[in-house]
Amino acid sequence: MKRDERDRFPGALSLRGILRITAIAPVILASGALAGGPGEPSGHALPPLPYAADALEPVISATTIGYHYGKHHKGYIDNLNKLIAGTELADMPLEEIIAATAGKPDRIAIFNNAAQAWNHAFYWRSVSPAGGGEPPDALRRTIEASFGTVDACKKELAAAAAAQFGSGWAWLVLDGDTLRIVKTANAGNPMTEGMKPLLVIDVWEHAYYLDHQNRRADYVAGIIEKLINWQFALENMARR
Ligand code: FE2
Repeated sequence: MKRDERDRFPGALSLRGILRITAIAPVILASGALAGGPGEPSGHALPPLPYAADALEPVISATTIGYHYGKHHKGYIDNLNKLIAGTELADMPLEEIIAATAGKPDRIAIFNNAAQAWNHAFYWRSVSPAGGGEPPDALRRTIEASFGTVDACKKELAAAAAAQFGSGWAWLVLDGDTLRIVKTANAGNPMTEGMKPLLVIDVWEHAYYLDHQNRRADYVAGIIEKLINWQFALENMARR
C-alpha cells in the first residue's frame, strides 16, 4: 500500500507492518490469550492484571482501575468476541485479527475492539508499582543513541501524550534500529506501520479523568516519574 493510501486509512497495514506483527507475536500472545479449554467459554479472555488494583496509587487509583480494566478493557474483549463469533477470525490471536482488519473500513469495529484489547493489555504491563526511575543500562544506551539523553526521551514522550488530540495513545517504539516516540488516535497501533511497540501510555480520558480530571499532563508526568516500566521496554526491544 502506498503512503498516500495509508494516510487515508491510518490503520492500514504496510508490508513492513505485516512482517513486524509476525515478528512480535510472542509479546501479544502473552497479553491476549485465547480462552476455550474444556468447560471454558470460547474467545479471548481478559488477561490478569499484573498487580493489585491499588498498586499504582496515587497516580492511578483503584477506582480508575476498576472501571478502566474491569469495564473498558473487558468491554473491548466482550465486544470483540461477539463480533468474531462464527467468523474466520474466531480462532485467531489478537495480532492476526489486527493484521486482517487494519485499514479495512468495513471491518473497523472488529479492528477497533481487537486493537483496544491488545493496547490495554500492553498498557497494563507498561506501568508497574516498581517502575519509574532510570532505564536499565542496555536500554539507556539505545535511548541515548536515539534521543541524546534519557531526559529528552521522557520529554518527547510527555509532549506526545499531551499533544494527542482527543482519545489515543503515546508510544515508545523501535523503528528499524532507532527508538522513536509516536502517537496514535483512538485504537491505532504502530505495529500496523511496521514499528515495534516498547511502551505505551493510554491518554483516553477514561485513563485519568477520575484521578486528575482535565489535567492530563499531571497523569502523564506521574507515570513517567513513578510507574513507567523500563524493564518491560527492554524485554520488548530484545525480542527481535
Ligand atoms: Fe483505556
